[in-house]
Amino acid sequence: MSILITGGAGYIGSHTCIELLESGFDIVVVDNLCNSSREAMKRVEALTGKSIPFYEADIRNPEAMTEVFKAHQIEAVIHFAGLKAVGESTRIPRTYYDNNVTGTLKLVEVMEQFNVHHLVFSSSATVYGDPAIVPITEDMPTGATTNPYGRSKYIVEEMLKDISASDNKWNFTLLRYFNPVGSHESGQIGEDPKGIPNNLMPFIAQVAVGKREQLSVFGDDYDTKDGTGVRDYIHVVDLAQGHVAAVKTHQQDAGLHIYNLGSGTGSSVLEMLQAFEKSCGKSLPYSIQPRRPGDIAECYADPSFAEKALSWKASRTVETMTDDTWRWQSGNPNGYES
Ligand code: NAD
Ligand code: UD1
Repeated sequence: MSILITGGAGYIGSHTCIELLESGFDIVVVDNLCNSSREAMKRVEALTGKSIPFYEADIRNPEAMTEVFKAHQIEAVIHFAGLKAVGESTRIPRTYYDNNVTGTLKLVEVMEQFNVHHLVFSSSATVYGDPAIVPITEDMPTGATTNPYGRSKYIVEEMLKDISASDNKWNFTLLRYFNPVGSHESGQIGEDPKGIPNNLMPFIAQVAVGKREQLSVFGDDYDTKDGTGVRDYIHVVDLAQGHVAAVKTHQQDAGLHIYNLGSGTGSSVLEMLQAFEKSCGKSLPYSIQPRRPGDIAECYADPSFAEKALSWKASRTVETMTDDTWRWQSGNPNGYES
């Protein structure tokens, strides 16, 4: 029996492949490589010493997906495949709804056809919108999203809840990630954004290797500890291990399971910058710029439910996050093309 990983060549997917293989699971990967490269899979194979059945295919293509399900005995699916750039989603919303929403529906259809009913879905803290209070617990309201990307995650969550309510065979786990950062400690795999990074950590990393001139800090007048935005950064290896815990815990549990995967600690933009400066051993130029539209002041998780139910806890520190990111970025200044 194997676990099918959609989007397994991507940033979080590739790290999760390693943790699953190291925990003794067999895996199969489907990825259309629209935001990743085959090299990531080769490095996962080299790091684990295992070969991974890989299909370059689109989850929206039922014929291709049928071939995968025919060729392997799939017991569960971890579904990472999707598009994730907030700005781009406002420019090409149809593409986002097609990929993220229609793609998930088509995947679920093929699963039904092959009698596979266990799905773990990559959701996001973005479904909470601008939270009334922090830390955020799973029962807080969702849906007040501010962009098509966020809405696509919210719509998929609602769709899976409806399917679960209609048919008690389904076993869905919705994992709401906070801010995944960092890289595998080997420095061999990591985040490889195409073009100008939108997110803080890859942007800082590119300033540190000299690919970008300076960091723009989006706003220093928020009601936070130092005026800059506060987020819950979680090391990608902790996040990957959260998936292993979720799959193991709910292997046989039909129903709907929802977890925040975060560290529970809020760090500001300037704190992250300072931690990175220590990791790379130099000071990094930045300037204060206006707030980024759609940004919120503070967002961090109450991860206690996941900790209790999954016997899992994010344990890696901000220093480990910046050290590991620097090891990956400095060793691979042009990502997988280095
Ligand atoms: P990523 O872009 O690195 O990985 C996604 C992978 O899916 C890529 O390899 C891409 O080629 C593949 N893909 C996209 N559309 C596909 C399709 N139609 N068919 C087959 N493959 C397809 O992104 P990531 O950071 O690893 O994120 C993984 C998932 O987690 C995404 O669903 C994302 O929305 C979600 N998420 C990410 C973050 C984050 O900050 N990285 C936060 C919350 C949620
Ligand atoms: C963003 C997305 C969110 C998505 C998440 C993970 C927006 C509005 N939200 O969240 O939907 O789920 O990424 O992919 O885009 N910052 C800077 N300078 C930069 C980049 C970021 O100061 O160049 C600041 C931001 O203002 C924020 C913090 O750094 O305070 C983190 O930003 P980012 O990494 O983009 O994540 P989120 O905004 O939390």
